[in-house]
Amino acid sequence: MKPRENSRGPRGLANRPGASRGARTRFDAAFYRRYYGDPRTRVASRRDVVLLARFVHAYLAYLAMPVRTILDAGCGLGFWRDAAAALWPRARYQGIEVSDYLCRRYGWTQASIVDYKPARQFDLIVCQSVLQYLSDHDAARAIDTLSTLARGAVYLEVPTTEDWRDICDRRRTDGTVHLRSAQWYRRRLARRFVAVGGGVFVARSAAALYALERTG
Ligand SMILES: C[S@@+](CC[C@H](N)C(=O)[O-])C[C@H]1O[C@@H](n2cnc3c(N)ncnc32)[C@H](O)[C@@H]1O
Repeated sequence: MKPRENSRGPRGLANRPGASRGARTRFDAAFYRRYYGDPRTRVASRRDVVLLARFVHAYLAYLAMPVRTILDAGCGLGFWRDAAAALWPRARYQGIEVSDYLCRRYGWTQASIVDYKPARQFDLIVCQSVLQYLSDHDAARAIDTLSTLARGAVYLEVPTTEDWRDICDRRRTDGTVHLRSAQWYRRRLARRFVAVGGGVFVARSAAALYALERTG
């Protein structure tokens, strides 16, 4: 999440592939209570996601990019599902999760973004505060998955080394996740996407962009 409460990304896994048993059980009820429920400890609220989703909706609408299908990779409590239902009421939403707890409770499809292979692509993929839980190898594979599955845009948020150094409130934010440089992500994403700011990456053929709409 963006550091509205000056925190980023709750405590995560070290050295485990995304869908390992450790990952599936690590993200339990206590995890979501602590990082999303309790106002004294949480890193993100439903309201934060509503504001963010409004921004992504407005930007894609401006770029004339239709959103009929949405994949929320690592969808957590489903804040994006609810925000998306209000903004793109006709879009089909698919949430995937590795957490046993969440899949039981919310009925998400249990799958990992590392190797998820549905038969179709998506107009918008949201991957918020997920990739930091993956090793370099798995995060690179997850970006390959995003590249394969994204027909339109990806909204990606992941805390980087720079964020940890400059922005994160270390009392709230976990440092045992896999921190990588922004450049590490940008290099891999650039093979298939154009960065247009605000965490939005557009598939190269999906929109006509003016030069200054691109970042970097
Ligand atoms: C910090 S939470 C973020 C939840 C949600 N995206 C949000 O921002 O509200 C991280 C989520 O990623 C999920 N996750 C971790 N590894 C994953 C993977 N390989 N594939 C899909 N989800 C994963 C966890 O189960 C957890 O629910």
